[in-house]
Amino acid sequence: MDKYIINGGNRLFGRVKVQTAKNSVLPILAAAVLTDKEVRVLGAPRISDVKSMVNILGCLGCATEYDGEDIVVDASCADCCEIPRALAHELRSSVFLLGPLIARFGRAKIAYPGGCDIGLRPVDLHLSGLKRLGVRIREKNGYILCDCKGLKGNEIMLDCPSVGATENIMLAAVGADGETIIKNAAREPEIEDLQKFLNGIGAEVSGAGSGTIRINGVKTLGGGAFRPMADRIEAGTFLIAAAMCGGEIVTEGISGENISSLLHKLRENGCKIRSKNDKIFLSREDALVSVKSVETQPYPGFPTDLQAQMTALCCICRGQSMVTENLFETRFKYVPELCKMGADVTVAGRTAFVRGREGFNGATVVACDLRGGAALVLAALAANGRSEVLDVSHIDRGYGMFEYKLRSLGADIVRAAV
Ligand code: UD1
Repeated sequence: MDKYIINGGNRLFGRVKVQTAKNSVLPILAAAVLTDKEVRVLGAPRISDVKSMVNILGCLGCATEYDGEDIVVDASCADCCEIPRALAHELRSSVFLLGPLIARFGRAKIAYPGGCDIGLRPVDLHLSGLKRLGVRIREKNGYILCDCKGLKGNEIMLDCPSVGATENIMLAAVGADGETIIKNAAREPEIEDLQKFLNGIGAEVSGAGSGTIRINGVKTLGGGAFRPMADRIEAGTFLIAAAMCGGEIVTEGISGENISSLLHKLRENGCKIRSKNDKIFLSREDALVSVKSVETQPYPGFPTDLQAQMTALCCICRGQSMVTENLFETRFKYVPELCKMGADVTVAGRTAFVRGREGFNGATVVACDLRGGAALVLAALAANGRSEVLDVSHIDRGYGMFEYKLRSLGADIVRAAV
């Protein structure tokens, strides 16, 4: 497994182009199974989660191809409805294929999905939603077995606004007979992006971005090309990096509106921020001041996927902060690693109590999940001295060309094989 070697202390300057959003591209790739026409995802990010999804599509019999920066999927020859354990464990988003497979073939078999180890991540809401559309679901030897004799539109009330369940139900409902209404739907912008893609290939979906989504089932779908939205989490990670290291950067490709919850906090921390069209300008000269509390919430609240990076920032602010994780259990696994770098953080239940210190010391630390791993890289960039971040394959799941982009901003970071 590769590691990063980082000499900390450089300020960051320059422009960084934001990749297309992992959380938009993954459900869109799954949606390609709905149609027997060609789908082209323009400018897909070079991350391993996307490669895993492309592998799974190949396993289902789809023809897939990387064409420059694009990914082309032709699901006309898809002939398999089973996702084996090894592939499903590699990628939690493999569960997104349930909806499209059932809509297209009337059945699906998938091993319980994997993904980052950030606590219990059940799929009960996905399954109860699909049941409401007429799917029969059984569970056997760690596999979920689904079949149906024609999907039928229905009203579905989600117990909590799960992003994945909302998307999975949307994907199945596109092929159902009649209208489906999802209430208490998640409102993340990536769901709106999925709606745009689906409507572009002939679906009839409305309301995404609000708590109520309506889907009119259609008999056939076409193909087409689609450029997914930019990755607000990647952009946020670079902005937090610049806040921690000091300097002046511009992210290109995303509007400030999509991460306003983060921008509010960074302003409180003492950063100067300006956002215009698809650019966000951030500069930080003076000492960082702590924000009292950060609480993760569903969109438009503070994203759980930026919680670890924000905690790393709180560690080097003047004063104390409380970071509360409301979405996932055990999403503080990176904290003991940050403490090896000199951070002063205590976790009690879902809250991390952070006492800000002057800075981090360089150390050898281990990435244990995607965003926690990114937080360790940011800490190492801001640290005094040399650090090694091990197991960067976790980081490769979501950040394409991470070290190249950071180097272009002036960071001293190289990848090395262990
Ligand atoms: C998606 C994102 C992930 C992000 C998360 C929350 C993708 C590919 N991943 O994950 O990056 O961190 O949204 O913004 O888009 N839950 C249930 N039962 C279910 C489904 C979810 O109880 O059937 C719970 C989860 O345990 C969690 C909460 O709902 O506590 C939110 O999860 P969800 O929104 O479903 O996250 P994902 O779709 O897995």
